[in-house]
Amino acid sequence: MSQPVRIYDPFDPQVQQDPYPVYEQLRDEAPAYWAEDANTWVLSRYDDVSAALAAPETFSSAKGIFPSPPGVDQSDLFLPMLIMTDPPRHAQLRALVSRAFTPRRIASMETSIRQTTDHLLGQINPGPWDFVSDFAGPLPAIVIAELVGVPADDREQFRAWSSTLVQANPIHGARDGLAAAASLYEYFAGFLAERRRTPRRDLISDLVHAEVEGERLTDDEVLGFCLLLLVAGHETTTNLLANSMAILTTRPQDRARMAHEPAVLASAIEELLRYDSPVQGLSRTLTRDITLHGETLHSGQTALLLFGSANRDHRAFANPDEFQVEREPGRQVAFGRGPHFCLGAALARMETRIALHALLNHTSFKWFADLPAAKRLHSGPIRGYASLPVQ
Ligand code: HEM
Repeated sequence: MSQPVRIYDPFDPQVQQDPYPVYEQLRDEAPAYWAEDANTWVLSRYDDVSAALAAPETFSSAKGIFPSPPGVDQSDLFLPMLIMTDPPRHAQLRALVSRAFTPRRIASMETSIRQTTDHLLGQINPGPWDFVSDFAGPLPAIVIAELVGVPADDREQFRAWSSTLVQANPIHGARDGLAAAASLYEYFAGFLAERRRTPRRDLISDLVHAEVEGERLTDDEVLGFCLLLLVAGHETTTNLLANSMAILTTRPQDRARMAHEPAVLASAIEELLRYDSPVQGLSRTLTRDITLHGETLHSGQTALLLFGSANRDHRAFANPDEFQVEREPGRQVAFGRGPHFCLGAALARMETRIALHALLNHTSFKWFADLPAAKRLHSGPIRGYASLPVQ
């Protein structure tokens, strides 16, 4: 288990600035790497990450999925959640929530996402503004509020809790984050009681009444799912948009094609997901000892699966460090793979398509992100920006 160089720590701000050279070194020199400070194994090659995602009986999600500092027990911090459940229970829960979280419901949100996008862009004053706080942050929060059925009057409060929750990371002991989670939990609990009495045509009503083989979700499971939508769907989408803004700033020709060719816009979104994945890595806990690349990973230890590195592996992608707007999509693992494959992938793709299309075709918006003035987000799993000034 001893390795000569300490090459990777997922919490090191310097690594977070540009992790890709370190990922390459990991893939080539230590594909099963023990990160001492973070107390976890790190898997960085595409094949290993994909195989681990497809083997939940060995790589379990039940004890948490976030790379966390030693000593943090994630099951104390969160309600029981789909994303932290293993098969066979996971399949039952996923079938139940999928009764409410249907492709039809997602598709029906297209018009309102477009309206929200136009509204947010319409509110922006001429001159410099912040892409994250003025656009990429609010858009997914409003979309999730609408998806869940939060009434218009409560949206501001909902957005405030939601941003606190995603910015103040409870895993790092942030009290604000825990307090916001508690407020959201209480808010949804009131909501849920009301929807039990009087069902409406919204997601919570459908979740409460969803039934598979005679089984329904408990109140805690419905609440856990609503919080999960926020945790999983907010900051991820925000940073796909922010990373896109940054990457495309230096690529006017790609932007011109994306603005007018819908097929190029679609393939570009897959490439943006691959090239700078918003979720860089999630963890699993080993349920048995395994040997990989000459190392023994013991039962009970955690393994961080680096999606961000897998997506840059030359063993899976030709010229992986090149951004190619028309790269053949399909293999990237930014949404994960296997049983936990992102339930919101279609929604995230639709939001991004609508937002980028509006920005690319906006008459008074000059695509320019002031990258030297940008502030990186310091988060274990998420890669993106805390602030991104634009014109
Ligand atoms: C660009 C945006 C997004 C990215 C990169 C992303 C990424 C991911 C990844 C990597 C996973 C797999 C987790 C694992 O294997 O442990 C996941 C799961 C999940 N995502 Fe997303 N996500 C995005 C947007 C969304 C949105 C918009 C929603 C819904 C509002 C959502 C809801 C979920 C849910 C519910 C799961 C758990 C699925 C399960 O455990 O069966 N995500 N996401």
